[in-house]
Amino acid sequence: MIKKIKVKEDYQIDESVARRYTPIKDIKAIIYLTKMCDGNILEIGCNEGVTTNELCKFNPNKKIYAVDYIDSTNTMSQEQRKETPQKIGHLIHKNCNVKIINKSSQELDFFELEDVGFIFIDGDHSFEAVKKDTEKSIEYIFKRGKGIICWHDYRIKPIWCGVKRLLDRLSMRMPIKHFDGTLVAYTQVSKLL
Ligand SMILES: C[S@@+](CC[C@H](N)C(=O)[O-])C[C@H]1O[C@@H](n2cnc3c(N)ncnc32)[C@H](O)[C@@H]1O
Repeated sequence: MIKKIKVKEDYQIDESVARRYTPIKDIKAIIYLTKMCDGNILEIGCNEGVTTNELCKFNPNKKIYAVDYIDSTNTMSQEQRKETPQKIGHLIHKNCNVKIINKSSQELDFFELEDVGFIFIDGDHSFEAVKKDTEKSIEYIFKRGKGIICWHDYRIKPIWCGVKRLLDRLSMRMPIKHFDGTLVAYTQVSKLL
């Protein structure tokens, strides 16, 4: 059972951006979560860097690892392939503390990154790929001892989006929360001692 919650803070998001994949309401929920944990940030599927800029603006003391890659994969649906950026992260502001990683998240060794406490999964949305990103994230955050894993596109349709199917299953094994009125879901891991 996934618990519904609300965002308790408001953040000023750049409204001049012409095209965004993540609605402003959802970005506010994501920013709210980044404030709940320490450590650096990993965004899987940064695209051109629209949300990356906001992650950076509201977390000036953290490093943002922004991952994407231009290629076709076995699992990404035809529909989602249209989302592939012209150039990875080219909208990221020059003054941002961002490291762009041009690599599939499936090939990326998370343990090569420096102290990540927040992982935002928004890459290949097929069930198999979200499962793989999620397994890698769980392994990393559990080894670190605490942190947050956040998913975008928690929804039933379109059919190629496997996020909700995966999280509804996962919620039987770990607590997952969903921000009401958004497509953002997350789980928080915290040290018992
Ligand atoms: C919905 S867009 C991400 C939007 C972005 N997070 C934002 O808020 O603006 C999905 C992105 O995931 C990327 N992607 C797909 N498969 C990936 C993979 N295996 N590793 C990293 N990025 C991937 C696509 O190229 C695309 O840019």
